[in-house]
Amino acid sequence: MSRNRLDYHLMPVSGWMNDPNGLCRYQGLYHIFFQQDRNSFEGKEKEWGHYTTADLIHYDYLGAAVKPDSEADCDGAYSGCGVVDGDTLRLFYTGNVKEAGDYDYIHAGRQHNLIEVSSHDGIHFNDKHCLMRNSDYPDDMSCHVRDPKITKIKDSWEMLLGARDSSDHGCLLRYVSKDLEHWTYTERYYPDQDQPFMLECPNRINEDILLACPQGNRRDPHWDNIYDAGFYTLKDGKLTDYQRADYGFDYYAPSILEDGDRKILFGWMGMPDAEYINPTRTEGWQHAMTLPRDITVKHGRVYQTVIPELKKLERQTVTMTQSSGTFAKTSKLDMKINGKFELDLNKISLQYDGSTLMMDLSYCGCGRGQRRITNLDLQKLCIYVDHSCIELFINDGEYTMTSRFYDDENQLAVHSQGIKQIQVTELGAFTVRIR
Ligand code: FRU
Repeated sequence: MSRNRLDYHLMPVSGWMNDPNGLCRYQGLYHIFFQQDRNSFEGKEKEWGHYTTADLIHYDYLGAAVKPDSEADCDGAYSGCGVVDGDTLRLFYTGNVKEAGDYDYIHAGRQHNLIEVSSHDGIHFNDKHCLMRNSDYPDDMSCHVRDPKITKIKDSWEMLLGARDSSDHGCLLRYVSKDLEHWTYTERYYPDQDQPFMLECPNRINEDILLACPQGNRRDPHWDNIYDAGFYTLKDGKLTDYQRADYGFDYYAPSILEDGDRKILFGWMGMPDAEYINPTRTEGWQHAMTLPRDITVKHGRVYQTVIPELKKLERQTVTMTQSSGTFAKTSKLDMKINGKFELDLNKISLQYDGSTLMMDLSYCGCGRGQRRITNLDLQKLCIYVDHSCIELFINDGEYTMTSRFYDDENQLAVHSQGIKQIQVTELGAFTVRIR
């Protein structure tokens, strides 16, 4: 029997994982919180799970940092952010409350509270402060306002919130504060080319580029997944020039960790409400994080490259010059592309016809088929495989494609046509200490 658990990706110790939350560097450690449900693989009771690491390779798992145990968050400690404020680590998140009654929970029956907790050691978080309730958001909002992300801008703080207004248009709400406690609403941003009904999980990349997750009513036929994640340029108060963050099946709710000038992007390797039966359910868990990716912006385009720290996991490299070879199922494959090719990795098929790159998971996707990038001038391809996930980095991070796959193999059989040589590097594993 093959093994689906991952060696060099963060995943739940047991149960369910979704969005990365509260990403920050505090007192010399990176803190990677995330939505978890330790008791079920279905993600029914959302709390904040917690990993820490000094080097992004060796991790400690600390259980739950925030639990849904107050009247303001009893139906879920939903997504949010971490802010280092002097020597204090503050977490801000959405407390989800579903009131008893016959409600649609979109326009009525749900509380979406902005809650703050703080810590002086990064491990223990104190009493909850509810900073905003439904009545504090603009009057024309539905009950879906959530996922605060706070950024320091000069000597002030900015908070972006994902939102669905009462006429079912997705937008981002912007607030400012001097003290992280009193927030003033300044404006809202709507997409101008698509009309999603909701935008989730906002992040600021820089002055001009925001990241968010649009849901529904899409006009772009290439958003193949039920929901999407991508970068918008903020122009004249509108979200425009949408750039998809990833082209695979499993990529959602990415969030930025700010480390000085460095911005590291963590994504959830999963997709809410996607219709497929993930076989890891029978193993008692679901979903994982993508590899951490360094973000750079060149000519308005966001590039994602794997953090250099991952090199520490590299073992031997072999150059594959024949058309076939068998390698460890935790491998990185690097290659230069000169025109059309076909590349099979066990039951995954990648095909490039000179313009479209297609990833076909028909034989190992558990019901999922193909994903494509069109109008692509493919020059360089770097592929990471880790037991049941694959991440493609195209042209040094110009595009990425991330998916889970499920086969019955313990090794990686590679067959290629049209590629001169492939450098295959075996990778080791993260260490995860459970504390
Ligand atoms: C995105 C999301 C967020 C929400 C969280 C709940 O996947 O729906 O909007 O805060 O998940 O787990």
